[in-house]
Amino acid sequence: MANVTFSSPIMHQDKTVYAIAGNTKTVLGLAEEHNIPIPFECQNGNCGSCLIEVEYYSPESKMSLALTEKEKSKLKELGKLTAAEIEAAEVNDMPPRWRLACQFVARAEDVRIIFSGEPGGAV
Ligand code: FES
Repeated sequence: MANVTFSSPIMHQDKTVYAIAGNTKTVLGLAEEHNIPIPFECQNGNCGSCLIEVEYYSPESKMSLALTEKEKSKLKELGKLTAAEIEAAEVNDMPPRWRLACQFVARAEDVRIIFSGEPGGAV
């Protein structure tokens, strides 16, 4: 089970929800289920409107790491993922800071999700 804490200037306070073990829901799906207003459009990794910043409470736990190819290329296009960060992710299992909520699945580790409330505008 993972604690996923959502934080945004457009929310009155942070909200923590639980992602059940074996959960395959994206962070965007989890947010929708709990009425957390992360902006989105395509829900398919193409538009970048669901950009989020992720803090990993236990950086040694890497199950959230997997970047989808779509996520990787969109984050690169947005200037939120450098070649060095891709290498760090793929070679050294270092989780990247920026993610797309519609692609990112929080599995077993606790994370804090930060978003501005503006499409494509992480805090
Ligand atoms: S909603 Fe379009 S990239 Fe996530």
